[in-house]
Amino acid sequence: MTNRPYVIDEMISAKSIAARIEELSREIHDEFDSTNKLVVVGLLRGSFVFIADLVRELDLPIEVDFLEASSYGDGMESSREVRILKDLRGAIEGRDVLLVEDIVDTGHTLHHVTNLLKSREPARLKTIALLDKPTRREVDMKADWTGFEIPDEFVVGYGIDFAQRNRNLPFIGKVRFT
Ligand code: IMP
Repeated sequence: MTNRPYVIDEMISAKSIAARIEELSREIHDEFDSTNKLVVVGLLRGSFVFIADLVRELDLPIEVDFLEASSYGDGMESSREVRILKDLRGAIEGRDVLLVEDIVDTGHTLHHVTNLLKSREPARLKTIALLDKPTRREVDMKADWTGFEIPDEFVVGYGIDFAQRNRNLPFIGKVRFT
């Protein structure tokens, strides 16, 4: 599957992503209290570009931490079984936390990771996903903020990969096998 030739059709432009992040950051700003330093937790690896752009739009005191969960491996199918490959460096008990995801697909990753973070008793936990594929959902989960709802297509770019490729595209594109 991964060595079949494919092309990438642009789905969401870099300009649209930037405009949406500006809107989202205003909503996030209004939600959190600037006296309680926010911990922005990026879910590796797919969120690394999104989190970089998002935090630069957030006019709030923040810390950044990362968590890595297993997902698709090298394929196009969710494994459903979520494992933590790299845990947070810092404690989040009593803190305000914003979890940043690239895509909510079946919902298993968001479900597992939010349960894990909640068990550490943060003061508040909110979630944001750049993309959401609602038609693929297997677990009833939705991020508090979503950048864009997209159809059931396999997408790459803006941090998101297909078998570790195409993360460095500045836009979101869909994979079309040729
Ligand atoms: P879920 O657990 O099925 O919701 O999967 C979430 C994770 O699967 C995301 O964080 C991505 O890493 C990966 N994923 C889901 N859809 C895609 C896609 O279209 N392209 C690349 N990775 C995807």
